[in-house]
Amino acid sequence: MVFVTDVVIQNVGKSFKEVVAVDSVSIDVKQGELYGILGQTGAGKTTLLRMIAGLDKPDRGVILIGGVPREKIRVGSGDVQIVFQDFALWPHMTVSQNLSFPLKQRKLSGKEIMDRVGEVSSKIGLPTHLHSRTPSQLSDGQRQMVAIGRALVVNPKVLLLDEPFSHLDPITKLKIRDELIRMQHSDRLTIIMVTHQLSDAMALADRIAVMLDGRILQVSTPDDLNREQSDPYVSAYIRSYSLLPKRKA
Ligand SMILES: Nc1ncnc2c1ncn2[C@@H]1O[C@H](COP(=O)(O)OP(=O)(O)OP(=O)(O)O)[C@@H](O)[C@H]1O
Ligand SMILES: [Mg+2]
Repeated sequence: MVFVTDVVIQNVGKSFKEVVAVDSVSIDVKQGELYGILGQTGAGKTTLLRMIAGLDKPDRGVILIGGVPREKIRVGSGDVQIVFQDFALWPHMTVSQNLSFPLKQRKLSGKEIMDRVGEVSSKIGLPTHLHSRTPSQLSDGQRQMVAIGRALVVNPKVLLLDEPFSHLDPITKLKIRDELIRMQHSDRLTIIMVTHQLSDAMALADRIAVMLDGRILQVSTPDDLNREQSDPYVSAYIRSYSLLPKRKA
């Protein structure tokens, strides 16, 4: 069981054969911080999150959660939860079973499970009439909501989000964003959020890391990142958001 949940990553690297996915990354995320990671496709963001989640082992370097080496914390304990970019729901289970499963593993009673699943569904705005469907009978946005719900049911201490809003409409996104901020502040939840959306990172993150080719190029508060970029790639990357061509009428 982890109690203090700062996440410290020191010189972590991971390669897949000749591909260096993460190349000596060091970051320090404080307990209760919402830490954004921005970066181009293939930058190594998912690989980094998977290592923090304990799903992949770094080739080198150290990951500490609350001062405890990652490999000493049981994967699946619920302390560190990840919402996958591709949702990774259990396809043969209904929505309700997907949401309940982590609680069943923790041996909660049927009533406790029903209450908790109902509570989380309502907090993130997931309609209960979807509970009896399987993931293949949902829209992408609905699947994404279930993936977020499944991560939240166990009250994690560290939440890893990989492109968590990519399929959500603005109203649903705002509701879920509000809930995450509430959990960050009232439960001191530590959140690491990978996103391609500069606006989401700017709106939510306490600090943002910009990643390219497996390296972190800059870590700043949103205001500082807007004001000053320490690297030409970061300048070009931030500028590219305002340069996206508008469709001509
Ligand atoms: N299992 C794997 N085997 C081989 N190469 C991999 C594997 N997983 C990732 N890679 C490579 O590692 C690099 C980083 O991949 P990663 O998925 O971490 O990128 P990302 O920043 O999450 O990208 P995106 O924004 O597109 O999700 C890429 O070049 C990718 O092709
Ligand atoms: Mg990714």
